[in-house]
Amino acid sequence: MLIFDNQMGLAAHLNSLRTPKPTTGFVPTMGALHAGHLSLLSQSVDDNDITVISIFVNPTQFNNPEDLKKYPRTLAADVEKVKSVSADIIVFAPSVSDIYGDNPISRHFDFDGLENQMEGKFRPGHFDGVGTIVKRLFEIVEPTNAYFGEKDFQQLQIVRKLVSKYEIPVNIVLCPIFRESNGLAMSSRNERLSPETRQKAAVIYKSLQAAKQHFGTKSVSELRDIVKGVLSAEKEFELEYFEVADEKTLVPVEKTENNEKYRAFIAVFANDVRLIDTISLN
Ligand code: PAJ
Repeated sequence: MLIFDNQMGLAAHLNSLRTPKPTTGFVPTMGALHAGHLSLLSQSVDDNDITVISIFVNPTQFNNPEDLKKYPRTLAADVEKVKSVSADIIVFAPSVSDIYGDNPISRHFDFDGLENQMEGKFRPGHFDGVGTIVKRLFEIVEPTNAYFGEKDFQQLQIVRKLVSKYEIPVNIVLCPIFRESNGLAMSSRNERLSPETRQKAAVIYKSLQAAKQHFGTKSVSELRDIVKGVLSAEKEFELEYFEVADEKTLVPVEKTENNEKYRAFIAVFANDVRLIDTISLN
C-alpha cells in the first residue's frame, strides 16, 4: 500500500501513471475514518482505475481552536481501514507545513452567498478554509471524480460552486449518509461522545424525521417547535439551528413553495461536541 506524506512524492507517483491517464477517484477526508468514509472509498474504487484518499486535519477550516485540538487523529488505524477496502488505494497524509508552509491561512472565496448560511454563519471562515484546501488538493491529485457525503450537504454545494467558478475539470459525486444503528449520522466527532450520549444522540435524526413527516402540512416555525420538542427528551442536547432551505441556494425559508426542493439542516451541541445532520424533505 502506498502512503505519501508530501505532495511532491504523490504528484511524482501520479505523473508516472499518466500515460495513458487512468481515471482517478479522490476522497478527501480529515481521518478518524468510519463506515461513512469507507462507503465513499468503495464507490470510488468501483468507479475508477485508481483511488486516492487524503487524510489531513485542515487547520484553516476550524474556527474554534479547541475543536481543532480535540479533533481525533488516528492515522495508523485509518490506514488499516483503508486497506480493508482495497490495498491498492493510495493514501495522502501530508503535514500542515507541506500544504501551507509556515503560514496556515485560507484565502477568501465568494461562493455566491452559499457560504453565508447555516454552517457559514455559525462557523465564520469555515468555508474559506474548506475552499482553500479542496482547491489545493484538486490541483495536486487532478482527480476525474471526487466523492463527497450528503451529510455535509452545504459543503457539497460549495465544492460544486468552487468547481464551476474555477472551471476545475472534476466530476463531483454525491454519496448518501451512513448512519449508526440508532440513526445517528456517522461522524469522526462521535468518537468524542460518551457511550450514553452517543445512544441518546439518536434524537437528532428522530427530530429530522419528525420534521419530514410534518413537512407540507405545518409551517417552518411549527416544524422548528416539533424539532425542539423531540430534542427536549434528552437534556444534554442544545439546538444551535434548525433551518429549512432551498437545496440549490441554501437560503433558509420560513414559507415553502410547491415546486422547489427543500432540505432540513440541523446543528446540535452535545456538551462541547457539535453535531450536524440533514434530510431531504420533498
Ligand atoms: P470529513 O469530515 O472527514 O469528511 C470527509 C467526507 O466524508 C466528506 O465528504 C463527508 O461529507 C463524508 N462523510 C462524513 N460523514 C459521513 C457519513 N456519515 N456518511 C457518508 N459520508 C460521510 O468533510 C471533511 O472531512 C473536510 O471538510 C474536507 C472535505 C476533507 C476538507 O478538509
